[in-house]
Amino acid sequence: MLYSRRNFLKQTAAAGSLLTLPGVGMFQALAEEKRTTVRIGMIAVGLRGQDHMQELLKRTDVEIVAMADPDPKMMAMAQALIQKYNKKAAVEYGKGPYDYRNLLKRTDVDAVYVCSPWEWHLQHGVDAMEAGKITAMEVCGAIKLQDCWDFVNAYEKTKTPFMMLENVCYRRDIMAVLNMVRQGRFGEVLHLQGGYEHDLRGVLFTTGQTDEPGVDFGEKGFSEARWRTQHYVNRNGELYPTHGLGPVANMIDINRGNRLARLSSIATKARGLHDYIVKNPKGGPNHPNAKVVFKQGDIVNTQIQCENGETILLTHDTSLPRPYNLGFRVQGTNGLWQDFHAGEPEAGFIHFEDKSPHHKWEDPKPYLEEYDHPLWKKYSALSTESGHGGMDFFVDNAFIECIKRDVEFPLDVYDLATWYAITPLSEKSIQEKGQLQEIPDFTKGKWKTRKPIFGVHGEY
Ligand SMILES: NC(=O)c1ccc[n+]([C@@H]2O[C@H](COP(=O)([O-])OP(=O)(O)OC[C@H]3O[C@@H](n4cnc5c(N)ncnc54)[C@H](O)[C@@H]3O)[C@@H](O)[C@H]2O)c1
Repeated sequence: MLYSRRNFLKQTAAAGSLLTLPGVGMFQALAEEKRTTVRIGMIAVGLRGQDHMQELLKRTDVEIVAMADPDPKMMAMAQALIQKYNKKAAVEYGKGPYDYRNLLKRTDVDAVYVCSPWEWHLQHGVDAMEAGKITAMEVCGAIKLQDCWDFVNAYEKTKTPFMMLENVCYRRDIMAVLNMVRQGRFGEVLHLQGGYEHDLRGVLFTTGQTDEPGVDFGEKGFSEARWRTQHYVNRNGELYPTHGLGPVANMIDINRGNRLARLSSIATKARGLHDYIVKNPKGGPNHPNAKVVFKQGDIVNTQIQCENGETILLTHDTSLPRPYNLGFRVQGTNGLWQDFHAGEPEAGFIHFEDKSPHHKWEDPKPYLEEYDHPLWKKYSALSTESGHGGMDFFVDNAFIECIKRDVEFPLDVYDLATWYAITPLSEKSIQEKGQLQEIPDFTKGKWKTRKPIFGVHGEY
C-alpha cells in the first residue's frame, strides 16, 4: 500500500496510532515507500529459515528469489513451502557450505535472511554486508568477543543496512509493558529480568534425522541437535542472551541514551543433559552419549549493571524439566510486573503502588489491554496465524517495511553486538568465578545521542 504523507497523517490521527515519543521514530513512520517489492535470498533454510519464509510467502511485496543450504532435506522442505503458497521456485545453492557466496553474487537479490547455526552467523553476516545485501540476522550469542566488533566494523565499512531479528521484542505483553514504561507507569525503572527458560532437551537430542525427541546429536541428529548441543559440550555461559535481554534493553534505551556497562555470571553444575540421556528409554546408562561430559551449567545467572544505574538479571535454563517462561520482570519506584508462561496476558502478576490494593498482586490482563501497543492494535488480526504467538509477523514486517521506505531498522548492528557480547563475557566471568567483565561500548560514544526507534510509532 502506498501512503501519501497526507493520507498517512489522517489515518494515524484517526487510529491514534502514534505514540508520544518525539524524534526519529516519527520521521520513520512518515517516510514514504521508495520500492514496492523486496527480493530476498535465504542463507540457511532450516526450521527457523522456514518460519521466516512462511511469513514472507504470505506477502505480496516480497519475492524469495534464491536460497542456500547444504542440507538437501531442508532445501526440499523449503522448496515445498514455496510450492504450498503457489510461488515461483527459488534458485537453489546447495553445493556445500560456501555456495551461499554464489547467491550473494546475484544482482536480483536485495536482502538476505541469515538463519544458520551460531558458528556461521559472523561469516554469513560479514559476507552479506560486503556483498551489499541488506542483512537480517537471527538471534544467538557471539562465539568470541571480537566477533561483535567484526560485525560493527563490517557495517561501518560497508554501510549495508543490517537488522537484528529479535522477535521477542515484539511479543504483545512486552510491547504493552514497553508502552507502560514509556508512559511512566512503573515510576523510575530500576531493575529488569529476563532469560531463556525453556526445556530444550527434546531439541538438543533427536531420534536420528527426525524431529522426534531422542538421545542423538551431532551428525546423527536433526536440526539444532546437529550443532547446538555441541555448544553445551564445549562451553559454559549465557548461550542465548537476546530473547531475555532484547525486550528489557528497549525498555531502558540501551544504546540510545543508556548502555550496558559490566556483568558478572555464575553457573550451577551440569546435570540435566546427562540425566536425560541416562533416564531416556532410547538411551540408558550404557548408551555412548551417556559418557559425554557437558560443560554447560544447567542454570546460568548473569547480572548486568547499566550506565544509568539499572540492573538486569538474565537466566539461561534449558537443560532441566520446566514449563516455558522467559521470566520477565520490570520494576520501578511505583511497582512491578512479572510474567509467567509464554506471554498470555493473564499469566503473570502486576502491582502498582498508586492503584493496586496494598501489598497485593493484580491480574495484569486489564493493564496489558489498556496499554496495548498501537502496532498490535493495527496488526493483531493479520498476525494471528504467525509464528511464536504472532511476534514473527512483526519482526519480518518491520524488516520489509523499513527496506521499502529506506529508513533505519529498529534493532541494528549495535544492538546485535551488545547483546551477542553477553555470551563470551559470561563465559569468561564464569571461568573467573564471577569476576566482573566490562562490556564494550560498540557505539563508541554514540549511545549518548542516539534516539529510541523501537516501538515509537504504530505503523510497522
Ligand atoms: N528467534 C527465534 O524464535 C528462533 C527460533 C529458532 C531458532 N532461532 C535461531 O535461528 C538460527 C537457526 O536455527 P534453526 O532452528 O533453523 O536451526 P536448523 O538446524 O533447523 O537450521 C540451520 C540450517 O543451517 C544450514 N546451514 C549450516 N551451515 C550452512 C552454511 N554454511 N550455509 C548455509 N546454510 C547452512 C543447515 O543445513 C540447516 O538447514 C539459530 O541462530 C537459532 O538460534 C531463532
